[in-house]
Amino acid sequence: MTRDNDRQMKAIILYDSRSSGGSTDRLIDSIGQQLAENGAYVEKARCKANADYSFIREFDVVIMGAPVYYMVVSSQLLGALLQSNLKRYLRHKNIALFLTCGSPEAMAQSVYMPQLKIHLMRNRILSEKIIAPHQIDDEDVIYDFVEEIEEGYRKSFKPRGGDLQWSDEALELIESAPPFFSDKIKAALVAYAEENGIRYITPEVLDDARASPRGM
Ligand SMILES: Cc1cc2nc3c(=O)[nH]c(=O)nc-3n(C[C@H](O)[C@H](O)[C@H](O)COP(=O)(O)O)c2cc1C
Repeated sequence: MTRDNDRQMKAIILYDSRSSGGSTDRLIDSIGQQLAENGAYVEKARCKANADYSFIREFDVVIMGAPVYYMVVSSQLLGALLQSNLKRYLRHKNIALFLTCGSPEAMAQSVYMPQLKIHLMRNRILSEKIIAPHQIDDEDVIYDFVEEIEEGYRKSFKPRGGDLQWSDEALELIESAPPFFSDKIKAALVAYAEENGIRYITPEVLDDARASPRGM
């Protein structure tokens, strides 16, 4: 019998790079290959600042990353986070982040990674990695990154029937209400999640459902 948390993970790699066939292309191919070997369904998409990102509704995990040029994360990925509907569709997603750059890791963590993370304050970050150009062909580095993503993904949900996943915090909040109300809240959340293509229920989803025109 297949348990819910054995279900095939669907991952999309959203990336950007100024070059074709450079380190980023090689890196995402290796990440994608490792995930696929481990049984995940994987797609990749190169970011455009003004693209429509509604397609990411279909995925459980969004792996995002890009190189750094002149101290700034590559512009189409940052542009997409600033200008497009990407941030809206990322709201309830599990996310993993990577950067490829030549700077020392400490600098990259403190100066470059926050350029992405500032847009993802409400997301669950499963893993984040700074990968130097000389590490791109290092199988151990890729393996560790993929393993952290998979482990974070498995931990991220508690199945309660169907495809829906519930965070511990969301369940605690719901279950603190009297049983009659908590059952009603759960049913309303299931309907809200289905309507909005949400598969992971967090306290933020509760807030959004309450604030939605139909309320809860
Ligand atoms: C024009 C240019 C500017 C760069 N600027 C930086 C930088 O400011 N900080 C840094 O850590 N790495 C910098 N790098 C290194 C790149 O981030 C790194 O080589 C990356 O792997 C390139 O990815 P790509 O091959 O997909 O283009 C720069 C590289 C280039 C070519």
